[in-house]
Amino acid sequence: MQLKLKLTVAAAIACVAGMASAQDTQVVKIGHVAPMSGGQAHYGKDNENGVRMAIEELNTQNIVIGGKKIRFEIAAEDDAADPKQGAAVAQKLCDAKVAGVVGHLNSGTTIPASKVYNDCGIPHVTGAATNPNLTKPGYKTTYRIIANDNALGAGLAFYAADALKLKRIAVIDDRTAYGQGVADVFKKTAQSKGIQIVDEQFTTDKATDFMAILTAIKSKNPDGIFFGGMDPQAGPMLRQMEQLGLGNVKYFGGDGICTAEVVKLAAGAKTVENVVCAEGGASLAKMPSGNAWKAKYDAKYPGQFQVYSPYTYDATFVLVDAMKRANSTDPKVYTAKLIDANYKGVTSTISFEPNGELKNPAMTLYVYKDGKKVALN
Ligand code: ALA
Repeated sequence: MQLKLKLTVAAAIACVAGMASAQDTQVVKIGHVAPMSGGQAHYGKDNENGVRMAIEELNTQNIVIGGKKIRFEIAAEDDAADPKQGAAVAQKLCDAKVAGVVGHLNSGTTIPASKVYNDCGIPHVTGAATNPNLTKPGYKTTYRIIANDNALGAGLAFYAADALKLKRIAVIDDRTAYGQGVADVFKKTAQSKGIQIVDEQFTTDKATDFMAILTAIKSKNPDGIFFGGMDPQAGPMLRQMEQLGLGNVKYFGGDGICTAEVVKLAAGAKTVENVVCAEGGASLAKMPSGNAWKAKYDAKYPGQFQVYSPYTYDATFVLVDAMKRANSTDPKVYTAKLIDANYKGVTSTISFEPNGELKNPAMTLYVYKDGKKVALN
């Protein structure tokens, strides 16, 4: 009898203890936004994978903030690379009271979203949007952990002029904030290096037929083409360049074309070997723990790596690092700590300029050899 009573008391204590620990666990939502539908969904999936991987790891670390055990959850949204939808899902995440956001992917969506996040007081860290205008308003809620297009556009123009000695380059952009911005930096820097811009043509981030603009460009006899845009356009454009006899023309672009997918989208065109693209970070091999991280990523998400997942992974940790230092998951409290970040990530040691840009960002140029991206530096 006594034994039975003892057991019952022990069970009751265990039960109460269990309830207490359940009550002390707080769910903290981290938003992620990228295009998850449409032609750019492969970038979005890669970015979201980075955040999911980070959250899974964080949840094994028994993190206690403000006296509560924290369980992180992703609030994943799709902005379809559309500026209006970007602002709308940003508002949705504000209303859902997420603690912070990783994203967005495109400059065209991130710039309008940044105002929404600033208005509702939620910080966001992008590991992909590169237009310099993102940090111009000086919002205390906006952070970027890669180099911006001033570095990418200029780096490519210097390479075209100094290493490749090109003289006549045509410029195409997709009229998005990203495409237009990076093309503009390239153009101005190339001109300052004595390169002649022989033609400027425009397309959209939905187009797949570039025969008319490429034919116009061909008549100007260029030795290079710069494209400001993303790989759903660059891939078919490279194939159509081959069809039009532009097989010896160099092809430049920023991080938006610097994907694994561009090779598939070019559908066997040899012009892929003419591509030189730039990314706003170190190559995986030169990141502090890039190769080990990539092996883990590939085991989890085989064949899905594109460009930015190491950055979205780090962006998630950067947010949580600020929460830990503030001992609060409340964005009104911990946002102020982001600017003092000194976080050793996979991609670099992340600390910020006063305007939220990454301090001392790296930049890497890539070419494609046998269908694989190869770093030049
Ligand atoms: N870097 C690209 C952009 O800013 C993805 O849109």
